[in-house]
Amino acid sequence: MRQAMANAVVGDDVLDGDPTVRELESFAARWLGKDGALYVPSGTMANQIALGCWLRPGDEVIAAEDAHVLLFEGGAAGFLHGAQSTTLPTTRGVFDESQLRSRIRPDFIHCPPTALICVEETHMGSGGSVIPLDALRMVRRVADERGLPVHMDGARLANAHVASGVPAADFAACADSVAICLSKGLGAPVGSIVAGDADFIQRAKRVRKRLGGWMRQAGVIAAAGLHALEHHVERLAEDHALAKQLAERLGALPGLVAPRTPVETNLVLVGVDHPRHDPASLAAALAEHGVLVMPLSPTQLRFVTHMDVGEADLDRLVDACAAILG
Ligand SMILES: Cc1ncc(COP(=O)(O)O)c(C=O)c1O
Repeated sequence: MRQAMANAVVGDDVLDGDPTVRELESFAARWLGKDGALYVPSGTMANQIALGCWLRPGDEVIAAEDAHVLLFEGGAAGFLHGAQSTTLPTTRGVFDESQLRSRIRPDFIHCPPTALICVEETHMGSGGSVIPLDALRMVRRVADERGLPVHMDGARLANAHVASGVPAADFAACADSVAICLSKGLGAPVGSIVAGDADFIQRAKRVRKRLGGWMRQAGVIAAAGLHALEHHVERLAEDHALAKQLAERLGALPGLVAPRTPVETNLVLVGVDHPRHDPASLAAALAEHGVLVMPLSPTQLRFVTHMDVGEADLDRLVDACAAILG
């Protein structure tokens, strides 16, 4: 990847185009089965560009109650687009059809207009579950019946593809716009993609410009993203296998609680139920052993497996937890 970055041919993407950025955008558009794709600095910007294309001030977006796009993007949907939201509980990211239908507002002047449905593939809040294709097709059907667009926060869509065997484009076909992250499990240092049809891409270009996300000689970093998409997708299976082992081995330690549902991808939510430790104190203690992990809630730690860790690191983690927890 570093070699690809060093060798990247660059140009000014904001003026006459950067050839490496263009190559990445075409590759990503093909992989997602969309007309076009834009390279942007972060997953947050990819999502917010899409929201900016679909929403006007006062519009309402429907999303899961723990959707990243609403809960972890600093209030951007309201701050940038003047949008309001209505949220639904889900079963591992999957909406209940009748609840979803009931949240779409009637065409009534007192109500905010429903303007967008968001889905998150994989679903971070439940520990990286894959939303099955049927469930996404249900959302598509409901949206079509009501003339609504669907945005997919596919930050970890590549993980869903590898875990399920379903082509990324089949998942993406259920949405009008899709965001994917080239960092995270795919291992690029930075960068995300937002994709959609030709009309969406035209509008997305303007929103990207407004947000300051159109980068000039970005080929150096786009080369890393291209390398990630070309070489690092199928290897995600290794991360998924390691995540399963991690759940089993940590869950067997006193004071830690394994996820109740099977680990499907690279995220593992481990419960902490210990007389002396909560997730924050355990994360701090693990940091002293050289293991970095994120407390996700007052009761859970979020472990992530990725291309820079392997079985030896898992041994080190298990030994550290055992030493800390006693
Ligand atoms: C589901 C999901 N969407 C979007 C993002 C945003 O990505 P970034 O951190 O690149 O802004 C994340 C980041 O963790 C995420 O987990």
